[in-house]
Amino acid sequence: MKKIIITLDGFSSCGKSTLAKQLARELNYVFIDSGAMYRAITLYFLRNRVDWNQDDAVQRALQDISLDFDYNDATGTSDMLLNDENVELLIRDMLVSEHVSEVAANKWVREFAVAQQQKMGEKKGIVMDGRDIGTTVFPNAELKIFVTADPAVRVERRYKEMFEKNPKITIEEVKDNLEMRDYIDSNREFSPLRKADDAVILDNTNLTREEQLAVALRWARDRIASL
Ligand code: DC
Repeated sequence: MKKIIITLDGFSSCGKSTLAKQLARELNYVFIDSGAMYRAITLYFLRNRVDWNQDDAVQRALQDISLDFDYNDATGTSDMLLNDENVELLIRDMLVSEHVSEVAANKWVREFAVAQQQKMGEKKGIVMDGRDIGTTVFPNAELKIFVTADPAVRVERRYKEMFEKNPKITIEEVKDNLEMRDYIDSNREFSPLRKADDAVILDNTNLTREEQLAVALRWARDRIASL
């Protein structure tokens, strides 16, 4: 059976990672959360007080960063390792979320992450989610999905997820953070978030997880069968 590359792009909190994970499991593919890489770099910059507006400081710092994914049997997905430290929980923190879009807008950060992502896809059989996967990382991917959902639904979903970790968080904070990230991710100079011309749109506002998986799985199986 031929293996393909599947890309899932879209705004924050519209269910891309959940879908990407499920798809990878069904197809026996590798799932890569590219946002986790930008988050780990952001954590490193915050801890080491690296000014992401200074290109030479960024370039120097990137030389000291190694990123890896480590398969976690308990969750069935991969945890993010930053210089061999498991940072999977730390990178989901609000402090990282507040700064990750600014860090991810840096040209050198993008070059660093994109090169590693392209390497991970060399053998195909991969599902990668992010913002520029179908446009910049894998412009020749066999299946590109652009995931969308109503903004109010996205805020609600994200709030529920964040509330479990931090009951003090307010819905306004979550909404402000999402709006800010949407804006920066779509308006940055390098690789802004946009739908690839050949991507198919999956609007999951009114779909359950099972329903959206069924749609995407059908697209994937049809594409694989067409090769
Ligand atoms: O998917 P996420 O929310 O974990 O991503 C975190 C941030 O990383 C997001 O605000 C934008 C950035 N990102 C990016 O610029 N390019 C990607 N391929 C993935 C994420």
